[in-house]
Amino acid sequence: MKIETIAIHGGNVVSDTLKPVIQPITLSTTFEHQDQEGSMMYTRLENPNRKSLEAVLSALEGGKDAAAFSSGNAAGNAVFQALPAGSHIIAPDDMYHGMKMLLQTVFSGKIEVDFVDLTRPEILHKSIKSNTRLLWIETPSNPLLKISDIKSLATIAKNHKLLVACDSTFATPIFQQGLFLGADIVMHSSTKYISGHSDILGGILITKEKNDFWERIKNVQRLAGAVPSPMDCYYLTRSIKTLPYRMKAHAANAREIAEFLNNKKEVEKVFYPGLKDHEGYETAKSQMSDFGAMLSFLIKGNIKNTDRFIGELKYFSDATSLGGVESLIERRSKVQGPDSGISDQLIRMSVGIENCEDLINDMDQAFVAAFKN
Ligand SMILES: Cc1ncc(COP(=O)(O)O)c(C=O)c1O
Repeated sequence: MKIETIAIHGGNVVSDTLKPVIQPITLSTTFEHQDQEGSMMYTRLENPNRKSLEAVLSALEGGKDAAAFSSGNAAGNAVFQALPAGSHIIAPDDMYHGMKMLLQTVFSGKIEVDFVDLTRPEILHKSIKSNTRLLWIETPSNPLLKISDIKSLATIAKNHKLLVACDSTFATPIFQQGLFLGADIVMHSSTKYISGHSDILGGILITKEKNDFWERIKNVQRLAGAVPSPMDCYYLTRSIKTLPYRMKAHAANAREIAEFLNNKKEVEKVFYPGLKDHEGYETAKSQMSDFGAMLSFLIKGNIKNTDRFIGELKYFSDATSLGGVESLIERRSKVQGPDSGISDQLIRMSVGIENCEDLINDMDQAFVAAFKN
């Protein structure tokens, strides 16, 4: 099956004897005891809709199994909790700030972390210690769209027997399949493109092998219980059916918008891996089938111009998050705070699938208004 077919059929694990075409929603938290293969007991442990969601995402990433969680952070948390206490993790310097905060606060005193520039694989070995267990990659990264070479990093990590996990939220399985590039685990915040409509919170892990470490992760899922509801699983599985086509439309719009912004006198710099002058362009081209639809850019002006530009837009909501069909925009330092090192002129944009001409005309008028005296 090709990716578009997997997206539509991969989540239909229909067991109902009436043979509905679509997997029904099973809200029951408990199931009658049965001693047969495939029977279920209790929804925290297993549920038909969660099974559907895990099956389709596992197939899309080319994995052996998947574990769904109630948020992207809960998925990352399960990986960290599955590590032995006192482990050392190497993570990207431009890591999604919520995940970084999770490591720095909840895991403080339990796990050691170093945040490293993973766009330079040649310096990775300098950060590896005797207790390093995990290399956490995020590519493209949030919010600077840094590109890390998964294959090169995984090769070095494997030489040191490290586990490799990759947060592929910005890429989706449609544009990047990290397991084929050397990652052991791929993670997504399914709140983003996988949901696609800004109305479901979720996270997913997909594994290359069903090994001991994976069993530890499944144990965190089943016992710590941060699992998604059957309803959320149903809607995520439904959303995935259109994911390949949504991603094509998202990426086509983002390409045009990145070019548009790159030619604007009011813009200092555009961070989009599909632009030939982006530092990670060649690596992105080699490991992604398209460049995604997230981009950031620096306004050539002050914080007032930046906020005025955002405020004048009609079709872009000034809101955090990403991956929905509607375009979102935000001044990123508002979210990450003054100590994050993020410039006050940095705007992050999640390009939606509206008509691109409408989006560009909207930005054109907002630039004029933002720089008017
Ligand atoms: C790259 C990335 N990873 C993980 C997460 C966390 O996902 P969630 O908000 O679903 O917990 C986010 C959220 O913005 C993200 O952008």
